[in-house]
Amino acid sequence: MITRLKSATFMGINAISVDVEVFITTGIPGVMIVGLPDTSTKEAKDRVKAAIKNSGFDYPIKKITINLAPADIRKAGSTFDLPLAIGILISARLLKCEINLDDYIIAGELSLNGKLNKVNGLIALGILAKKLNKAIIIPNENKETAEFLGVNFKSFDTLKGVCKFISGEKEELILTNSKENNLSNFMDFNFYIKQKELKDNKNNDCPDFLDIKGHELAKRALEVAVSGHHNILMVGPPGSGKTMIAKSAMGILPDISLEESIETSNIYSFSNKKFKENEEEYNLISRRPFISVHHTITTAGLIGGGGANPVPGDISLAHNGVLFIDEFSELSKKTLDSLRQPMEDKVVNLSRSRFSILFPCDFMLIAAMNPCPCGYYGDENHECRCSSAEIYKFYNKLSGPILDRFDIFIDVYSVNLKKLMDNKTGESSKEVKERIKQTEKFQSERRAGASIMFNSSLNSSGIRKYINISDSTLSFYNEVCQKLNISSRAYHRTLKVARTIADIERRDTLDEDSILEALNYRNTKFLKV
Ligand SMILES: Nc1ncnc2c1ncn2[C@@H]1O[C@H](COP(=O)(O)OP(=O)(O)OP(=O)(O)O)[C@@H](O)[C@H]1O
Ligand SMILES: [Mg+2]
Ligand SMILES: [Zn+2]
Repeated sequence: MITRLKSATFMGINAISVDVEVFITTGIPGVMIVGLPDTSTKEAKDRVKAAIKNSGFDYPIKKITINLAPADIRKAGSTFDLPLAIGILISARLLKCEINLDDYIIAGELSLNGKLNKVNGLIALGILAKKLNKAIIIPNENKETAEFLGVNFKSFDTLKGVCKFISGEKEELILTNSKENNLSNFMDFNFYIKQKELKDNKNNDCPDFLDIKGHELAKRALEVAVSGHHNILMVGPPGSGKTMIAKSAMGILPDISLEESIETSNIYSFSNKKFKENEEEYNLISRRPFISVHHTITTAGLIGGGGANPVPGDISLAHNGVLFIDEFSELSKKTLDSLRQPMEDKVVNLSRSRFSILFPCDFMLIAAMNPCPCGYYGDENHECRCSSAEIYKFYNKLSGPILDRFDIFIDVYSVNLKKLMDNKTGESSKEVKERIKQTEKFQSERRAGASIMFNSSLNSSGIRKYINISDSTLSFYNEVCQKLNISSRAYHRTLKVARTIADIERRDTLDEDSILEALNYRNTKFLKV
């Protein structure tokens, strides 16, 4: 008898439906799995055998053939343990099937004792199930993620539990998501974010705006950057506070929405860099990621890669959040250039000989660097010890196209030492975050609910539609740009920054002041941009 079940494998960050066929005949006992299984899937047969025996069933001493279709896609991972075990039990007539197997996608890893273990990629699996209008049968440990996704599911602790359900026996723990098939748990998610925030506040290494003395210009620039998701580059001598300012961005990022969290958490579930233990109990991230990259990172580490099973790089882990590259100029030229395409397209395409995989990477880049190899070029209090050849080489590496992708450039000078011990208090991160939240609201109302989240992602037609500029202000802008010899990419970018500034000031129409401030963010002492 042939038993057919549905399961799934993963490619990139997507789940792909796989039909599992199990056929048992007389012959030399053994299990053969065909249909491009990788090593971890091949290993399933030993786990499944032990799990079946330890769940109180006899293991059929027969020839078992398992086919995973479609045959041309590589099947990776341990999600097939559960469908294989059930398929074998039904085919061997050890389990009667009282449900319509075709209504379910089944995934779960088995322990030798028959316990069901959590599987990776549940978000992708849930999205697939919703698309195919199926329910999922999953391990209990995955049930919270399924709840947040609003997918119909049944979850179990053991193989025995699943068997009871399939044979129609009343199972003590059957959980079905009663909510509609949409993201209706939004209120629950907000509650989850607040809970996490309370917990996280204790051990956060993010400096508060209150602790940053002086640097008013840099703080304002950072607020503009975060409000419109603009890329920002900070240049300044050692110890001037660049790293500190960059890290403070963590505290003013707007809250993440459930949809964004699902997108980003899905990417995380395919990365080797797992959520820190106990940090995200539902496997859903509760705030925008802030990924700090060390300048020695490899290109593959940054943009993603790896042989047959490419994994997302740090730019994808920063999806819907911030990528922070300290000592930006120290990145290798190759790594710097590899950022160009993903920064423009907000998605990275990893091509392999037989397939290519797309990882989303819509991040805001915060970069910091010294103005020269010794660090003191342009500093009034220290002498720069670099030769002009060294400085030329230093800036030559930062090619025009990569600098063009920044919207905001800011010089960060050391503040007066007296100011450092100043008791005068400014705005706290909490206050700035609240203002950013209001700016966001103003933006979405101004755009009458159109789905573009941040000004930085407006394309040229979006710019024409949403910038809202009078003819006279536009000709003023054109004139200044011509004088400053600004590139066409920078032309659009500056206009978007100006739009963000006007949004912060709650101005419907773009005004000259906002434009001048935006242009000022391109006028740095160290870089000619
Ligand atoms: N404006 C400031 N207010 C408060 N503390 C400051 C300020 N500027 C610098 N500091 C102190 O100086 C330390 C060094 O600053 P930070 O590491 O941010 O400098 P940096 O510009 O990144 O230097 P480098 O170029 O060497 O990386 C901070 O940890 C902080 O304690
Ligand atoms: Mg630093
Ligand atoms: Zn120097």
